[in-house]
Amino acid sequence: MDKEPGEKSNHAFPAQFAWGVATSSHQVEGGNLNNQWAAWEQQGRIKSGDAVGLACDWWRHAELDFDLAQQLGVNALRLSVEWSRIEPAEGQWNADALNRYRQMLLALQERGMRPFVTLHHFTNPLWLEAKGGWLAPDAPQLFERYSQRVVSALGDLCTDWTTFNEPNVYVSLGYFLGEFPPGRRGRFMQVARVTRNLLLSHAAAYRKIHELQPDANVGWAQHYAVFKPQRKKFGPDRWLARFVNRRFNHNFADSILDGRAPFPLNKFGDSLPEVKGTCDYVGINYYSRLRAGFNWRSPKTAFFQLTVPPHKPQGDSGIEVPYGEAYPKGLRKAVKSFKAFEKPIYILENGVPDRDDRIRPWVIQSSAQQMQRMLRDGVDLRGYFHWSLTDNFEWNEGWHLRFGLIELDPATQERKARPSAQVYADVIRKSRNGASPSSSRRPLNERAHTPARE
Ligand code: GAL
Repeated sequence: MDKEPGEKSNHAFPAQFAWGVATSSHQVEGGNLNNQWAAWEQQGRIKSGDAVGLACDWWRHAELDFDLAQQLGVNALRLSVEWSRIEPAEGQWNADALNRYRQMLLALQERGMRPFVTLHHFTNPLWLEAKGGWLAPDAPQLFERYSQRVVSALGDLCTDWTTFNEPNVYVSLGYFLGEFPPGRRGRFMQVARVTRNLLLSHAAAYRKIHELQPDANVGWAQHYAVFKPQRKKFGPDRWLARFVNRRFNHNFADSILDGRAPFPLNKFGDSLPEVKGTCDYVGINYYSRLRAGFNWRSPKTAFFQLTVPPHKPQGDSGIEVPYGEAYPKGLRKAVKSFKAFEKPIYILENGVPDRDDRIRPWVIQSSAQQMQRMLRDGVDLRGYFHWSLTDNFEWNEGWHLRFGLIELDPATQERKARPSAQVYADVIRKSRNGASPSSSRRPLNERAHTPARE
C-alpha cells in the first residue's frame, strides 16, 4: 500500500505485529444459560436490568462479525471458549460445542486472522459454582482436564492461549466489592485463597498445554489500572494508592514471576514454586487511571473509594461507579511494570466505554503512539487488541456501557460502524506502511464527564 502524502516513515511496528479486536464468550455468543453469570442475571443482579439474550448472536453468526473485523484490516482476534458449553455437567463433554469453536477458528484463519483463545473469561459452569467455584479444592485438576480437552480439539487451529482473563478483577469484584458473582464483600482471606487456586490452575494448564503443543504461546491477561492518591498530600491516600497498586496489579503476577504465594498467605510461610515461570508472554488489559482515597462514609467498600476528577477525559460512567479516567499514557506505565518478566508483551484489551464515540478516536490514536514509542525504545511488544469489535454485554452494567468500534442494537442485531472503526483501520494500515499513527489532539469533546459519585 502507498503512503499518504506527509506520512512520516518509521518502521516501529513489526510486520507480524498482531493487530486485533478482543471479545469473550458470554458477552457475545448469546444463549449461555449454564454459567453463574446467567444465574446472576436471573437473580436480578444486572444493574441496568438488561438481559444478555442473544448478545451479539455469535453462537449462530460469529462469521458475520468476522467479516466486519476483516474489513478493519485486523490480523488477529481474541475470543474465549465457554467452559459451561464444553463441559455442561462435570465429566460430560459436548462435542458439538467444540465443533462450533472449530468452525469459528477456521473462519478466522480463512479471513487471515490469528485466533487468540482464552480458556476462562469470568464465567464458571454452574456445576463448578455449586462446588464453591475456585474455592473448590479440585478446581485446578478440573481446569487442567478442561484445558486438555480444548487444546486437543482446537490445537491444530490455534497456538496462542490465555488461561485466565483478569484473575485480579474476578477476585476483587467477586469477593471484595460484591459487584460480580458470587457477590461477597470484604472477604480478604477468600480473595487470597481463590487467587491461590487460580494460580495453581493456571500453572497446571500451562504445563498441560505445552505437553500437547510444545510450540504453544501461553500466558494470562492481567488487568492493570493506574492508581494515584486522591489527595496528593494526604499520607493515608498515598499509602492506599501504593497498596492497591501492589495488591491489585501485582498479586497474581508476582507469584508467576517468583513463585511466592499471594498476599497474605506468603506471610504465613506459604509458597507456590510450581507456579514460577509459567508464562510465555505477559498479557495486559489496560483501560484507565483512578484516584484512590479513604472515605469514612463508604463502609461498603472498606472505607476506600475510587474516583475520577471531573475535568479529566472520561468515557461514559458506570451506573453506580465511574469507569475511570481515559489515560492512554498509562499504557507505557503498565508495560513497564512487568519488565522484570523479560517476556514478550501483548496488550490483550484496551478501550473505552463511549456510546457517542466522543473520545474513542483519541484513545485509539494515542494508544498507538504510546506503543510506537515503546517499540522504538526496544520493548518486545507483539500485539494490541482493541476491546471491542461490536458493543457487547458488559457484565453487571448490561448494555449500559458501549465499547464497540461498531455500534450494535441488541434488539434488532443491527450494526453500524462508529467513526472509530475507520480510525482504527487507518492506524493499522499506516503501521503497515511504516507511517506514524496520526497525531492525537486532546479529545475535543470533553463534555459529559460525569463526576464520580460520592
Ligand atoms: C475487562 C473485561 C472485559 C470487558 C472490559 C470492558 O475487564 O475483561 O470482559 O468487560 O473489561 O470493561
